[in-house]
Amino acid sequence: MTVSGHDTAASLAARAVRVIPGGVNSGQRRVPGLEELVIAGTAGATFTDGEGRVFTDYHAAFGPPLLGHNDPDVDAAVAAAAGSVGNMGVGVSPVEIEVAERLVAAVPSIEKVLLTATGSEATFHALRLARTVTGRRHVIKFQGCYHGWHDAVAMNVISPAERVGGKDPLSGGILPEVLDATLVLPFNDADAVERALVDHDVAAIILEPIPHNIGAVLPLPGFLERLRELATAHGAVLVFDEVITGFRHGLGGYQAVAGVMPDLTTLGKAMANGWPVSALGGTAELMDLFSTTPGRPAFFAGTFNGHPAMAAAALATIEKLEREPVHEHVFRLGERARTGLQELYDRLGVPAVVSGFGSVFVSYFLEGPVVRYDDLLRNDVDLFVGYRRELMRDGIFELPLNLKRSHVSYAHTDEDIDRLLAATEAAVGRVLEART
Ligand SMILES: Cc1ncc(COP(=O)(O)O)c(C=O)c1O
Repeated sequence: MTVSGHDTAASLAARAVRVIPGGVNSGQRRVPGLEELVIAGTAGATFTDGEGRVFTDYHAAFGPPLLGHNDPDVDAAVAAAAGSVGNMGVGVSPVEIEVAERLVAAVPSIEKVLLTATGSEATFHALRLARTVTGRRHVIKFQGCYHGWHDAVAMNVISPAERVGGKDPLSGGILPEVLDATLVLPFNDADAVERALVDHDVAAIILEPIPHNIGAVLPLPGFLERLRELATAHGAVLVFDEVITGFRHGLGGYQAVAGVMPDLTTLGKAMANGWPVSALGGTAELMDLFSTTPGRPAFFAGTFNGHPAMAAAALATIEKLEREPVHEHVFRLGERARTGLQELYDRLGVPAVVSGFGSVFVSYFLEGPVVRYDDLLRNDVDLFVGYRRELMRDGIFELPLNLKRSHVSYAHTDEDIDRLLAATEAAVGRVLEART
């Protein structure tokens, strides 16, 4: 779609604001300075805005298009499925079975799996299941991790310094007793987890194995292993929220990389290259407690769960990830971006820690090390956001919001990384120059 002459980006944005609150369909899409951003088209590693400008896209919709936007194989599978079997709301379609079999084969800790539309639904049901099976009240989450919009976890992601250590809800309307039932702990602090497990009746520990919602804070050696031991010892359910790390860091998720098995795993985003399908999987013992088995206590439902066309998107994505050297490509480019960026900041004398894993990279402007969220409070936010705004002038898009990560896809090339490095050097230089 192109934006036609009289429909300028500004007029479209104005129309949007009249009928869509704030003009966007997610609170995460209202970015200061980009109030008039209209997306007219996407293709491979790029998107085109309402004024016809083409950008190399490293934001990648917060992570889904691992193969690149509009992947022809995945999109053809969606079209074919949509033309043959619709959403029935009874029984199961062959493609749902196929996807479940592939997920069970690919993700080490998953013995059975259910499909949802979104990651939030998957994490919601993980916690409901954990409370059902344990009969306990509390859940542990970590400062900086995001697990979706529902009340039990919608808190303490990118918190201001004064809210760290307390409760920092993302929304009004969350009952105080729900806030109380979630314990927020520092990432990479297993001793704090142990104390909480002793002091409270904890149903679940939920975490992003790499907290990518604050860029990329890597787990310290032994941290995930210790969580596994502690959860087992105290009878709590360990939930790896692999909505970002699943598929993007490997078909088996980050658990396959780390060799640590959770009880439950959530998947989403890259699992269907941008089509809305997510999943909750785990041990058969736990998963069989869902009401999909008659008489079982944990209610599970959803009109769009396992939608055949979306399941087909997941299947086509899995098949392409198995068939082609996607991970090899994105890991190599990701590594080139990280080492190239760190080298240029060092050369410029700009204090920076370039972090990431595989296809994900982020430049924090601070003195390291980065071990937990509090370290990121030292980030030079003006430089972080400022150089990304400057990059847009060179046709490169990294989301200009504090701590947000960037992604490489199978559609990105070595030339894209060369351009990224050159443009970043110029952009950082311009921001710093404007300060003097
Ligand atoms: C780690 C993680 N879990 C869960 C979610 C929620 O997924 P969704 O936005 O599909 O509901 C997100 C979304 O960004 C996420 O990053």
